[in-house]
Amino acid sequence: MKNPTNIKLLLIGLIAVLVSPFCFGQDSRALDQRVEKFLQENRQQWKDLNVPYVDGKMIHDIIVENNYQSALEIGTSTGHSTIWIAWALSKTGGKLITVELDPSRQKMAIENLKEVGLSDYVDFRLGNAHQIVKEVEGPFDFVFSDADKDWYIQYFKDVHPKLKQGGRFTAHNVLQNISGIREYMEFVNNHPDYVTTVDKSSSSGIAISLKK
Ligand SMILES: C[S@@+](CC[C@H](N)C(=O)[O-])C[C@H]1O[C@@H](n2cnc3c(N)ncnc32)[C@H](O)[C@@H]1O
Repeated sequence: MKNPTNIKLLLIGLIAVLVSPFCFGQDSRALDQRVEKFLQENRQQWKDLNVPYVDGKMIHDIIVENNYQSALEIGTSTGHSTIWIAWALSKTGGKLITVELDPSRQKMAIENLKEVGLSDYVDFRLGNAHQIVKEVEGPFDFVFSDADKDWYIQYFKDVHPKLKQGGRFTAHNVLQNISGIREYMEFVNNHPDYVTTVDKSSSSGIAISLKK
């Protein structure tokens, strides 16, 4: 170690190790600011059946608080909830698979996620979720169901074996009078493996089913 070149290399390595946490910290702060700005600026702009801001924040918080890392979203639309989920996963080091039937909505969602810098956290799948959800490989610890409501029960049944214990299956619009919702609530409320609560942050309502 008397060689001055070795000492120099050792010093450079030491400095890199000491400085890197601050660099990464700055990166994640920059990402947070970029996402927050986008979400605020577009708060009233979503018009493709997207979740309201408060519901997006709710699902984000569930993921972060529980350190969930493998998420599935059914119904991407143009990506509002996708952004909230992907943002949460950027903090937990996770990944999301999101499914959408409509190619033009999916295209817009892909552009939106790119704009906020969250593309790396999302695997976009185009097609009918009836088939994709049956075939998709788990396990998952967080699911957000927001596509066709009269298929909610079947989505739940298909995901159930792939959902980890302690994971949550969430479903949107459960306070609304939409075909299939009453039956869905009856189904989850009576399921012996889950405890279900309803978040009422918005008038839409999110059913949150925790797997025991
Ligand atoms: C309520 S929107 C989703 C909103 C989205 N979660 C958001 O907050 O930005 C429901 C979406 O599900 C899609 N969808 C409906 N049935 C579907 C199916 N069988 N497979 C895949 N996507 C479906 C619709 O095209 C629509 O874009």
